Amino acid sequence: MKTEHTINGLRDPLRQARREGKTIGFVPTMGNLHAGHISLVERAKAQCDLVVASIFVNPTQFGANEDFGTYPRTLEADSQLLAAAGCDFLFAPAATEMYANGLNQSTSVHVAELGKELCGAHRPGHFDGVSSVVSKLFNIVQPDTAFFGEKDFQQLAIVRRMTQELNFPITIIGVPTLRAEDGLALSSRNGYLSAAERQQAPMVYRTLCQLRDAIGYGQRDYEMLTEAARQHLQKSGFDPDYVSVRRASDLLPAKAEDTALVILVAARLGKTRLIDNLAFELPASA
Ligand code: PAF
Repeated sequence: MKTEHTINGLRDPLRQARREGKTIGFVPTMGNLHAGHISLVERAKAQCDLVVASIFVNPTQFGANEDFGTYPRTLEADSQLLAAAGCDFLFAPAATEMYANGLNQSTSVHVAELGKELCGAHRPGHFDGVSSVVSKLFNIVQPDTAFFGEKDFQQLAIVRRMTQELNFPITIIGVPTLRAEDGLALSSRNGYLSAAERQQAPMVYRTLCQLRDAIGYGQRDYEMLTEAARQHLQKSGFDPDYVSVRRASDLLPAKAEDTALVILVAARLGKTRLIDNLAFELPASA
């Protein structure tokens, strides 16, 4: 695997690969890689001739009081994992390479309604930061296919829509969430959990499963169901940002007649903000 820190250093060999007719798969990350990230690389490897992963802790998607400063940076261990997974190029730029004009660029991507919902309501500007950096990375790498985890369901929906609306000639693939045996979704932020919090954290996934089952049994009062789940999480020591039942296709609030659903949760446990979701289909007549 070759590691490139500059845009031109990466563009040159990729241009050559493209000339040779090779397809390029891209896995954007912020590093501190776990098995979930590696499953994205493996999926890219299976589908494309050449795999590029990026590691860049993007400052513009963090709010002023968030964990940008403490986000784990583990480049050495990450590059070993990527090389072992068969990644061909690691792009690991400095912030000055990605934002040569400074962080307050005059041009950025703004995500309207969907960017202000759910996580966007609690992290103002977050999805503008994500969409802007993903656009920049798409322009730098120019992949045929890009791979994103379904754990960040809202991010995936926003990236899909941005790709379509800004006409990036890129296929976006969502890859299923990997979970620990007790159900906790793998996340770089799980490392913030204390031992006691780690025991408690799988309750987020259990709550999602209970909600899915209740809906499967015919309950359709989503307001009541999600409020009860929110209160249950709160009583168990979480500080929930939201619990919400949405249409899987566009993340609009679900109506009783919708059948392709996703339940999304974000809740703080101590200083860790956990997010998770569960997508499922109801039989049309249920
Ligand atoms: O999901 C992430 O790790 C980040 O939001 C991404 C897509 C790499 C953009 O910084």
